[in-house]
Amino acid sequence: MNTHEILEIETNHSAGTYTKQPLVIVHGLGASLFDPDGVEYLDCSSGHGVANLGHAHPKIAEALYKQASTLITLFETFPNDKRAELMKKLTSLVDGLDRVFLCNSGTESVEAAFKFARISTGRKNIVAAMRAFHGRTYGSLSATFNKKYREGFEPLVPGFSHVAYNNIEALDKVVTEETAAVILEVVQGEGGVYPAAAEYIQAARQICDGRGALLIVDEIQSGFGRTGRMFAIQHFGVVPDLLTCAKALAGGVPIGAVLIGKRVKNLMPGVHGSTFGGNPLSCAAAVAALGVMEDENLPRQALVKGAYLMDQLKRIDSPHIREVRGMGLMIGIELKQKAAPYIRALQEKKIIALNAGMTVIRLLPPLVISYRQLDHLVDVLTEVLVADLVPAEA
Ligand SMILES: Cc1ncc(COP(=O)(O)O)c(C=O)c1O
Repeated sequence: MNTHEILEIETNHSAGTYTKQPLVIVHGLGASLFDPDGVEYLDCSSGHGVANLGHAHPKIAEALYKQASTLITLFETFPNDKRAELMKKLTSLVDGLDRVFLCNSGTESVEAAFKFARISTGRKNIVAAMRAFHGRTYGSLSATFNKKYREGFEPLVPGFSHVAYNNIEALDKVVTEETAAVILEVVQGEGGVYPAAAEYIQAARQICDGRGALLIVDEIQSGFGRTGRMFAIQHFGVVPDLLTCAKALAGGVPIGAVLIGKRVKNLMPGVHGSTFGGNPLSCAAAVAALGVMEDENLPRQALVKGAYLMDQLKRIDSPHIREVRGMGLMIGIELKQKAAPYIRALQEKKIIALNAGMTVIRLLPPLVISYRQLDHLVDVLTEVLVADLVPAEA
């Protein structure tokens, strides 16, 4: 199939729920992606924060091949060596979170966390933050703030409310003895790359404790080394009751997980389940991915490279930049105007970046990105951000 045919088929036959880029990608290596003609693009999106290990990591390929020739599927009622290995590793990552529910995506892990919070507390209400993004299925969509995702799908799940992010007083007012859980991203990703203040997360823990509510942190985008620690919440010395994760956990293979603390009760057989959850293939990939994160010290790489990149970005002298913010290699460049034309200009110069809301360029490169690639990224961003691009939509 040639490039034109591929574009045409995807444009005509996909459901229509995605804006298709005019760029076909057929292979990847490290932080690079390649089109069918072998033209190289620098990936600063990691597939929305999935490819933390880079593309085509040999350890993931090897683990998948071995496991696919051994056993791909097995329902969780039957214990399995790879699943047990994954459970052991995952539950060793955060002191106090020593059980795990395995599923297949981010939104599924959020749904599971909500069910666990309600069954555990016997309460219905969930407090989420303004600008939050937690997924697109009904429970997670009800916790997602932006109207753009919600409109047209009502009625959503009752019992959800939203409160200003990073505002301790506001949180203190809305959490009551009827609140089952508070759910927070430690760095709001889709909402615009807004890191939480340490005091806010620490206060959220205390407020939840005081009212008997559970604290859920959503580390689906910020997890697995992205912010410079294995999980972003570990910067703040807070342990949540439920931690949702997915994306980078299995090196790109679909998986989701909820890490569960001691306060979460009533998780009896039948309370929740998933046909594919805990399948040995994803588990083997996740065991390999966690091994790579440790061997290559990816959290440390994100910390050091993130500081390096942030420093360079803050020096870009452009009248279009309002603010540069982030944590580790989760970085947002907020513009005074729409980001889309700048993201398009970057893509023309062979750099793939993301937006976060209307005005933020979001950078989520693979954590293995090289310093040469980071320097190139800064050069191209500097070139693009001094240009006066009039938004096509304006
Ligand atoms: C913080 C956060 N939560 C939940 C999700 C939903 O994950 P998924 O797309 O795997 O369902 C995302 C996806 O971008 C996310 O960033």
